[in-house]
Amino acid sequence: MRLNRSIAQGLVAMVLVVGLSLATISKSYAYFHNRQPSPQQVAFAERTGELMFQTILAALLQEFKETTDANVAEGSHSISLIFNDKNRDMRLIGTRDPLRRNDRPSDSFERRANNLALTAGQPLTGVELVDDQWVYRRSVPLTNFDPSCAKCHINYKPFPSTERVGALVLRVPIKPEMN
Ligand code: HEC
Repeated sequence: MRLNRSIAQGLVAMVLVVGLSLATISKSYAYFHNRQPSPQQVAFAERTGELMFQTILAALLQEFKETTDANVAEGSHSISLIFNDKNRDMRLIGTRDPLRRNDRPSDSFERRANNLALTAGQPLTGVELVDDQWVYRRSVPLTNFDPSCAKCHINYKPFPSTERVGALVLRVPIKPEMN
């Protein structure tokens, strides 16, 4: 009997030790994982975001140039393919009668970015942990700046070219530190 009791006590102690070690390991994993990225990592993501923005802008300007009254449907389909809904790293967002439901702001960064774009015409940037991945986020406010806008967005027709209509939002995953 006494022996059984010592075995039981030993087992309890073992379970406790293993449990505590596992808790410590997962806590230190979480610590490293959730650690804020360094200024160098953020700067790299910012530079990447700027290159990405210039590339997207060039593609959009080309699309606006190509748009005529006759090819609005094809042009819209083309923009939708470029801004594929599965790609969360580049999005067009707006709340002024958006062309696609998916273009409504979908999280707190996008809601703040859209509000800031509509109320002040100002950009927003941030470094956030999204789904366990550190990301650099950036918004570019948009106005009805080109005559082609209203060809596809017919609700923009009465607007002046300075009217604020939404934002382009970019998200750059922050790479782990390179040694
Ligand atoms: C060739 C058609 C076309 C032109 C030109 C165009 N857009 Fe769009 N725009 C779209 C489509 C299509 C979407 C939806 C993209 C998607 O599938 O997510 C969109 C989305 C947007 C959104 C997100 C909210 C919404 O309405 O869905 C904003 C803001 C926006 N465009 C602004 C502009 C501005 C500003 C211009 C002019 C400088 C412009 N667009 C020119 C087709 C166009």
